[in-house]
Amino acid sequence: MSDKKLVFSGVQPTGNLHLGNYLGAIKNFVSLQKKMNCMYCVVDLHAITTFQNPKDLRKNILETTAGFLASGLDAEKSIIFNQSSVSGHAELAWILNCVSRIGWLNRMTQFKDKAGKDKEKASVGLYIYPNLMAADILLYKATHVPVGADQKQHLELSRDIAQKFNNDFQKENFFPLPEPLIQKNISRVMSLRDGTKKMSKSEESDYSRINLKDNADEIVKKIKKAKTDSKPIPENERELKDRPEALNLINIYADTIEENLEFVLSEMAGKDFSHLKSKLADILIEKILPIGKSIKELTNDSSFLEKILKKGTEKASIKAEENLKKIREIVGLL
Ligand code: TYM
Repeated sequence: MSDKKLVFSGVQPTGNLHLGNYLGAIKNFVSLQKKMNCMYCVVDLHAITTFQNPKDLRKNILETTAGFLASGLDAEKSIIFNQSSVSGHAELAWILNCVSRIGWLNRMTQFKDKAGKDKEKASVGLYIYPNLMAADILLYKATHVPVGADQKQHLELSRDIAQKFNNDFQKENFFPLPEPLIQKNISRVMSLRDGTKKMSKSEESDYSRINLKDNADEIVKKIKKAKTDSKPIPENERELKDRPEALNLINIYADTIEENLEFVLSEMAGKDFSHLKSKLADILIEKILPIGKSIKELTNDSSFLEKILKKGTEKASIKAEENLKKIREIVGLL
């Protein structure tokens, strides 16, 4: 394994992990741990940029950790920890707040979406959230960041911040410019109710998403109810251009059976969507149900999960402190 390459990614502990998190990010985390050094973080400080009930937050930090393990992350291979337990994230975020520009943050579309109509009432934390994300990555000088397409803009900002820090302090290549690793086929899993919106925890209707903890009945019902159109499955991708719900279901199916879109279209062209839906429900039950079962089992053993996080925190803290020492020196802090 090369020492220079380092993978870092994070997931917010804000409740149910869903199929979008899994296919867009966590599944990729698992395959990367086989070939690179990896760090996976439960980003609890990001979660509190919108109010979290403290009791729920504690539960969700452990449940997200369980989600990592249940999906196949191995704490012997990857460093698994929670963000707030390594205080260097917050310290570097402050330094980077002073490097990042207001104009850059003003362009962040996720802030606009999350803050909604009344931006004045959003927390300052939500506004500077991408700077904390840059700190997460740069604290370890991570080179590769697996994420869903919705995080692409934040990663571009992380690169801009890294570049500006290197320029301002005339330390060429001190921070590597982190590269996004975005899944080709399924970078954005869309809502089952509206193929133009991404699948998300915050969408009101639970029918819009498959949660990793859903039972077989729920999976079947949600897929049956998923929005489609009246046309059959077409022969080629071009004909899916204005059919976002149809495209989404086919994409989810293709990714879950580890095939590409062309393969699925060649197998199913001319068939009705009910055919795809029944196959999709079956494969999701086969792949997702065991993950959900394992999450439920693991969350019953909170001391085991706490131990995993503690071990990860110890390893992450050593790396963080080493880099922070240099960063403080570069900036001129005593
Ligand atoms: P979060 O917690 O919203 O989502 C975790 C990961 O899941 C991906 N994802 C999706 N991918 C495809 N389709 C979807 N519908 C979908 N919904 C979510 C996200 O892209 C993400 O990869 N800011 C990040 C967390 C973070 C982070 C970091 C990531 C904090 N620091 C440093 C990478 C590096 C977030 O809120 O992800």
